[in-house]
Amino acid sequence: MINYVIRIKNDVGRVTNMNIGIDKLHFFTPHVYVDMEELAEARDVEPAKFTIGLGQTQQAVAPLTQDPVSMAANAAWPILTAEDKEAIDFIIVGSESGVDQSKAMAVHVHQLLGINPFARAIEMKEACYAATVGLQTAVSHIARHPESKVLVIATDIARYGLNTSGESTQGAGAVAMLISKDPRVAVINDDAVSYTGDIYDFWRPNYSTYAKVDGKFSNEQYLSYLETVWTEYKKRTNKTLADFKALAFHLPYSKMGLKGLRQLLPEVDEAKQAALTEQFEASRVYNKRVGNIYTGSLYLSLISLLDQSQNLEAGDTIGLYSYGSGAVGEFFSITLVEGFKDMLADESHQAMLDNRVQLSVADYELIFQEELPTDGSQLVLSEDEEQFQLAGVEGHKRLYK
Ligand code: HMG
Repeated sequence: MINYVIRIKNDVGRVTNMNIGIDKLHFFTPHVYVDMEELAEARDVEPAKFTIGLGQTQQAVAPLTQDPVSMAANAAWPILTAEDKEAIDFIIVGSESGVDQSKAMAVHVHQLLGINPFARAIEMKEACYAATVGLQTAVSHIARHPESKVLVIATDIARYGLNTSGESTQGAGAVAMLISKDPRVAVINDDAVSYTGDIYDFWRPNYSTYAKVDGKFSNEQYLSYLETVWTEYKKRTNKTLADFKALAFHLPYSKMGLKGLRQLLPEVDEAKQAALTEQFEASRVYNKRVGNIYTGSLYLSLISLLDQSQNLEAGDTIGLYSYGSGAVGEFFSITLVEGFKDMLADESHQAMLDNRVQLSVADYELIFQEELPTDGSQLVLSEDEEQFQLAGVEGHKRLYK
């Protein structure tokens, strides 16, 4: 058995036990989307290819007013109290949609949210994996500074381009997680197994607005890294699939996670297979309606599972598979704590998705092609309905409100 608590020395050198994990979590996705059946028809593709073959029904679209910074702030503000803002001394933004090569988006987010000024703010990158290392870094930080809280945000806009094979797997959104000691949602267990390999399955050179991808190869690598980290995880922990109440996967499109699950299912009996499959269906409800949000996709799936599953209980362990192209894979687990259901924002998440406006494919294409000026000229954007938005740019600077 793994020891689920971190043992630390306090000021006088006594060893104490401390649970560290997710205290609150919330996601944000922009208020417009395109319907996948309509997109399929416009691209002369069988709609079932997108809805069943990829498992996607809607795709979030980011208008110019919602960039990765504003989405990050929009994901976080509903869960932060004045006390949290004082206690947070570290903001980690995981993203592969950075808006600047030097300045971390976490610095903007820190200002927008009004966080304690004596805080660290950084951005982390490794494709869709970065928020996972953000979580693990937060746990290490709190182990040394038990009174502090860390805000980890995953924020991205997935863009492959119009009329490309990746277009059906785009999306936009952010997930915010507040990490603390004595968490009220789940303890992050000290059992992560990671694996790194230098491959080109998906990448985005600095000069390119759109991702480059070797689609088939990326699917294969996702599954191969899963096999590698899962096998090593079992070896190191002596656990089996039967020890997990549910699994949550990085979901670039929801069928990818189903493929991952099916790879593992033969290890358990039929009843357990059915139970894990039922949990998987809960874990992809939101992702089907949002699309790929890269760093946030695994955590959107976790939120979907927590909000939508009818039979999770305190003490249940959930296995998480994080995959970031390039590539790093990681398998780790969390254990739900007493009262976790009271901390979920399920109604707000559902309302956010239900209140979105559907775009025609023509309008989606127009919005998709809008760009900010790159010559330093001024652009003032009209007001949108969100708490935070990009208000415009001037002199190569982004202005938020
Ligand atoms: P594609 O060529 O459009 O689709 O590429 P396909 O021909 O492979 O078909 C997709 C599925 O639809 C197949 O199912 C078809 O059989 C099925 P599968 O065999 O794979 O189970 N299909 C149908 N099903 C029902 N009715 C029909 C029908 N027709 C076909 N009529 C691809 C799809 C995902 C490769 C492409 O969209 C792409 O390149 N996307 C981007 C890359 C990606 O998402 N890769 C996933 C793994 S890598 C990863 O997760 C990392 C990532 O998130 C980036 C990061 O880390 O930052 C991407």
